[in-house]
Amino acid sequence: MFRKETRWIKLSFSASGLMENSIEIAYVAGMKLCFVSNAQGIFAFEEKCPHNGFALSAGTITSDGKSIVCPLHRYAYDMKTGRCSHGSGGAARVFPVEEREDGLYIGVQETRWGW
Ligand code: FES
Repeated sequence: MFRKETRWIKLSFSASGLMENSIEIAYVAGMKLCFVSNAQGIFAFEEKCPHNGFALSAGTITSDGKSIVCPLHRYAYDMKTGRCSHGSGGAARVFPVEEREDGLYIGVQETRWGW
């Protein structure tokens, strides 16, 4: 039986290492991810746009700080849920981020074989 588990990975940078409202890139568990820190929280999402693969790191953050806008076709993705505002753009893969006493962690879903 397969089951899904969240593996928490400690990041090599802290929340204070992220510039407010800018899109930072980091490689985590073999994935190229974008990180955004602002008044809405700290967000992590896959760098590749789910619509047509363009770089979301070249995008812009909406004025409410909740979404990232892809520069190619201007689809907006909610940075917390990954939901696309256009309906047909798929969903961005997003990751939970936790700020703990000893650092910043990201949760990565993994499928494992076991009971
Ligand atoms: S490639 Fe990003 S919106 Fe089309």
